[in-house]
Amino acid sequence: MTRILMVCLGNICRSPLAHGILESKLPSDRFYVDSAGTANYHVGDSPDHRSIAVAKSNEIDISHQRGRQFEVSDFDTFDHIFTMDQSNYQNVVKLARGHSDIAKVKCVVDIDETISETSVPDPYYGNLTDFENVFSLLNKVCSTLANKLQNSSL
Ligand code: 4NP
Repeated sequence: MTRILMVCLGNICRSPLAHGILESKLPSDRFYVDSAGTANYHVGDSPDHRSIAVAKSNEIDISHQRGRQFEVSDFDTFDHIFTMDQSNYQNVVKLARGHSDIAKVKCVVDIDETISETSVPDPYYGNLTDFENVFSLLNKVCSTLANKLQNSSL
């Protein structure tokens, strides 16, 4: 089983979408996907209603997900940890216990060389179009990621 963790700040907007999208592209008998936030603001909360709506309109149900905070033991549980932006990356790397923990962490947009964006922008203070743009970016990244994971080329 390969274990993948998607990380953002609040774990209610971006990483729940990344979690649901990647999960929809991978066989569940070989891959386990989860998400977490570096902050504790939304522990136990459902994803933002706009993330739920955008996922639903793309036939992905993320409404059962609940927010949780990233913890040091996630470095042991997961093989790959993908952050949505550079700030999340720094927050996760700060908790690393050594090189092997740091080696597991990447900014998710760096997986796809054809993507010019340097982060998945935080849509929390934005509108539904911002959430649709996040979905579309994550959908592209997660297609590349799912291919790489299944070809063991990561
Ligand atoms: P996320 O978005 O990191 O994509 O889940 C945010 C959600 C909540 C907050 C910030 C970003 N907040 O400040 O509560």
